[in-house]
Amino acid sequence: MTDHDIPADQLFPGTGDSVLDSMSFLSEVAERHPGAVSFAAGRPYEGYFDPESIPRHIETYRRYLRDTAGLDDTVVRQRLMQYGSTKGIAREVLAEHLLRDEGIDADVDAIVTTVGCQEAMYITARALHSRPEDVLLAVSPTYSGFLGAAALAGIRVLPVADSPDGMDLDDLSRTVRSARAAGLRPRALYVVPDFANPSGMSLDERTRSHLLALAGELDLLIVEDSPYRLIGGEGRRASLKARDTERRVLHLGSFAKTVFPGVRVGYCVADQRTDDGGVLADRLARIKSMVTVNTSPVTQAIVAGCLLEHDFSLESANTRETAAYRRNLTHLLEGLTARFGPDAHEEHGVSWNVPTGGFFAVLTTDFTVDDALLEHSADRYGVLWTPMHHFFHGGPQPSGMRLSCSSLSPAEIDTGLDRLAAMVAGVRAGCRGGDR
Ligand SMILES: Cc1ncc(COP(=O)(O)O)c(C=O)c1O
Repeated sequence: MTDHDIPADQLFPGTGDSVLDSMSFLSEVAERHPGAVSFAAGRPYEGYFDPESIPRHIETYRRYLRDTAGLDDTVVRQRLMQYGSTKGIAREVLAEHLLRDEGIDADVDAIVTTVGCQEAMYITARALHSRPEDVLLAVSPTYSGFLGAAALAGIRVLPVADSPDGMDLDDLSRTVRSARAAGLRPRALYVVPDFANPSGMSLDERTRSHLLALAGELDLLIVEDSPYRLIGGEGRRASLKARDTERRVLHLGSFAKTVFPGVRVGYCVADQRTDDGGVLADRLARIKSMVTVNTSPVTQAIVAGCLLEHDFSLESANTRETAAYRRNLTHLLEGLTARFGPDAHEEHGVSWNVPTGGFFAVLTTDFTVDDALLEHSADRYGVLWTPMHHFFHGGPQPSGMRLSCSSLSPAEIDTGLDRLAAMVAGVRAGCRGGDR
C-alpha cells in the first residue's frame, strides 16, 4: 500500500460485493479456454443473427414515424439522432407489443425504456431503497445480475426458498413476517416466473395466483422479470403483470433474447401511483436521467422496427429460435439420461431438473462443485458450465452446476455431455486435483 492507494473500505461497499465478480470470473475462464464446449454462457443462438436486419429495422421505424405517425423529416432526424426522451422514443410501439404478446395494457407514461433489463433492475432497486431497513426478497438461487444491481443500490436481498413449483410461498410469508419482526422493511419480491435463470423452472398456475394474493396480504410489490417468456414455446402461462389488478407488479423486460443482445434495450412497466400525483415510472426515469441520460435512440429504433415488421409480436418473430431452443433443451435432457441412466443419483451422484423451455437446466451433484472444479473441468476435459454457488444469496446451497444449451448445436451438446460425463466419473473416482 502506498500513500496514494485508495483504502477499499472508503469506497461504496457494494463495489466490493463478491457477486460483482461472478460475471467477469466466468467470462475470463471462457476466454482462457476458447476450445472448450460451453454450457456456461446463457447466450442466444447466433445462427439466425442477420446484420442486414439492422439498417432495415431502422428504416422501417423511420418510415413509420414519417408515414404513420406523420412526423416531418426534421423531427424524424431529431428522434433518431438527437438526445431523446428519458423514458424512450418508441413507447407507443412497445405498449402495442406488450398488449399483443403479453396481454399487458400498459400506459405509455408507465413505461421506461432502459439500457438492457440490467438498467431496469438497477433503477428499480435504487428507487425502492429509501431507508436503511429496506430489503428486497428473491428466490435463492437467483439471477446474479439482479443480486449485483441490488448490491450497487446498497439494498440487501433476503433469500426465499426454492421449490419444485418455482417458489416456496410459505417460506415467502415466513421470511416477510420475520423480517418485519426484526425491524426490516421488505419492499418487493424479485421473481422470474418463466424459465428462470438459473433454475429453468416456471411458476405453475396455482403458484402464480397464490403469489399475487399473498403479495396483497403481505402488502409487497413484485418485480417480475421474464426475458425468456416469449421464446419458451407452447404452454406459456399469463404473466403476473397481465393478472395484476392492484398495480402490485413492476414488469421488467429485455429484448436481448428476442431481438439480439447487442441492441442493449430493455424496459420497465411501473404504473404504481406515487402520492405526489405521478407514477413510479416518473421516479425511475429521474434516476435513469442521471445514470444513462437516455437509451440510445438508434437501438430503440432497431427494436421498434423489428416489432413493426412482425406486427408487434416477438413471439411470432422468434418461431425458428424457439424451435431451436426447445430442440436443444430436449437434446440436453435426453443426453443426460443417455449418459447417466435412470439411476443417475445412486450410480453417478447426479440428478437434474426438467424445465419445459428456456435456456437452462440444473445438474445437482453429491460432490462439491466450485470454481476450482470449473477450472479443472475446463483444463482437463474441455467443458464449461456455471457453478451454482454464483446464484445463491443465502439459505441452503445444494451443490451443482447450471447447464445452458441455448447457443450450442446438438452435436456440440453431445460432445459437451461426453466430456461432462467423463469429468463426473473422474471426480467420483477421486482424481480431481491430482491429475490437473
Ligand atoms: C433473468 C434475467 N434477467 C435479465 C437479464 C439481462 O437482460 P439484459 O441483457 O437486457 O440486460 C438476463 C440475462 O441473461 C436474465 O437471465
